[in-house]
Amino acid sequence: MLTRLLYVSKPVGPITTFVTSSILEVCSVNNKKAEITGVLCQGSGIYLQVIEGKRSAINALYSRIISDKRHNQIELLSFEEVGQRRYGQWSMALVQLSIDDPMVQLAHPEFDPYSASSKDAFRIIDELIKSSRPIETMRP
Ligand SMILES: Cc1cc2nc3c(=O)[nH]c(=O)nc-3n(C[C@H](O)[C@H](O)[C@H](O)COP(=O)(O)O)c2cc1C
Repeated sequence: MLTRLLYVSKPVGPITTFVTSSILEVCSVNNKKAEITGVLCQGSGIYLQVIEGKRSAINALYSRIISDKRHNQIELLSFEEVGQRRYGQWSMALVQLSIDDPMVQLAHPEFDPYSASSKDAFRIIDELIKSSRPIETMRP
């Protein structure tokens, strides 16, 4: 059974290239093995991540993610069964959700995933993927 999960969280301390690379390195090994795909948006003081894959694999990963000390204020926005993957080409794509990006600022100045509906959050993620060319960790 295929599922998709979306959550938002706040990084503890600044998001540095070092933290991001260490997360993505683990993603590229673990997610490929567990057949998990998804997108990690970072910037504006938040992480917004979608993970999709088998229900048991998603549950196992989410439990690890919520006990990770590199972020807090984790809020589950959506968890659903799905017919097919939406982010199937990435074991974890990285999208910058930075307020320094004028495009993002102009398009979504008011976007706050903690109060937005999950539908709006997915819409914004999909727009960002289209407009910002994600840094990608490709599946084999
Ligand atoms: C924002 C964020 C996103 C993460 N995404 C993933 C992920 O997609 N896959 C993954 O295996 N670990 C991810 N991690 C790392 C996990 O929390 C965990 O450290 C890693 O899976 C190793 O777990 P282990 O030490 O229990 O083996 C993420 C961590 C953070 C802070």
